[in-house]
Amino acid sequence: MADIAVMGHGVVGSGVMEVLLSHRESIKKRAKEEVRVKHILDLREFPELPYADRFTKDFSVILNDPEVKIVVEVMGGLEPAFSYTKACLEHGKSVVTSNKELVAQKGAELLTLAQKNNLNFLFEASVGGGIPIIRPISQCLAANEMTEIAGILNGTTNFILTKMIREHMAFADALKLAQQLGYAERDPSADVEGVDACRKICILASLAYGTHVYPDGVHTEGITAITKEDVGYADAWGGVIKLIGEVKKLENGRIHIQVAPMFISRESQLANVDDVFNGILVRGDATGDVVFYGKGAGKLPTASAVVADVIDCVRHLKSDRKILFWEDAKPDYVQPWEDTPQDLFLRVGGEGDADSLFDKAQQVFPSAVRLIRKDELPGEAGFTVEQLSQRQLEERLPALEERGLRLENRITIADF
Ligand code: HSE
Repeated sequence: MADIAVMGHGVVGSGVMEVLLSHRESIKKRAKEEVRVKHILDLREFPELPYADRFTKDFSVILNDPEVKIVVEVMGGLEPAFSYTKACLEHGKSVVTSNKELVAQKGAELLTLAQKNNLNFLFEASVGGGIPIIRPISQCLAANEMTEIAGILNGTTNFILTKMIREHMAFADALKLAQQLGYAERDPSADVEGVDACRKICILASLAYGTHVYPDGVHTEGITAITKEDVGYADAWGGVIKLIGEVKKLENGRIHIQVAPMFISRESQLANVDDVFNGILVRGDATGDVVFYGKGAGKLPTASAVVADVIDCVRHLKSDRKILFWEDAKPDYVQPWEDTPQDLFLRVGGEGDADSLFDKAQQVFPSAVRLIRKDELPGEAGFTVEQLSQRQLEERLPALEERGLRLENRITIADF
């Protein structure tokens, strides 16, 4: 019998209980012993539940129970999740978590602590919900040099963009619909500003390259500035707009990492990842492109990944098996985003028809290639430019302004 504790009985925590109870026999077979939840930590009370007697409000009950060797942390947020996780690892308990904020901010520290104490710290559910991605990157693809990872890592924003693309909705209307359907929080800022996707790509980058990348050192753009016009220009270019978390290994040993809405070609493997689904493309030098697709959030998909980690932990309680590790951050490891050349889409506004606006823009960007969207109006023009860094773009803004043009938006063009 393996006794475990579950900290948090919200959406994921209750899902973990549901999966453990409904799959009891098959989990027992796979874990090679029965998994029993001895304590559930939550400040609320759930007297109606059949396991109501296992709830506690006191973390020390879990910490001081020597029979509990595995603790599931599904509370979310940085505190008290971090303090509790740290204390568990210091008290000889392995930890399984779905908490991307915790892993993105404290991964190196907690993995080091786990390693020092010969314990596991596992977090398959922290990226991509039910999609297996942590083990594939850290184990199955480990023989490859992963030259690039690019993912649609946030279901809320993918739903909103899908509505903007397919039904020509404005951003605000699509967000409202997402909220009505329960796909977006009442405060959706972490999703629509790219913060959630940033945590996830930082976790994947840290795993793939073995060095912790902290979210606050990563360029992050959300989708709040994307308009129906931008969607129309992406269509004219031959693609769609998706919020992408991307990391690339550079020849100088550094990485390029960003979260940004991007034009991606209709031919791309990620172009048809729609609605609340997630998709992650891993480009390996031996494998070529490998793509993972599925539900990136939600009660049961996320709980399934958590319970799989628990099974793994139970099976290896007595053996020295730590499958995940990365070192702490290195200075200058992340290439400054402003200096990285990228292909860009630029949309400008000003007085006059689109032809005259584009002519003026071409004086500033001689290699510009014009796009003409359906229903294009006077006073706007859209075009692509090749390999321009943000710094170079900003240097040319005064020349645009001298010609009476305003830069309305700038969107990265993906290379996958
Ligand atoms: N709001 C997030 C998403 C939840 O839509 O992906 C999972 O991180």
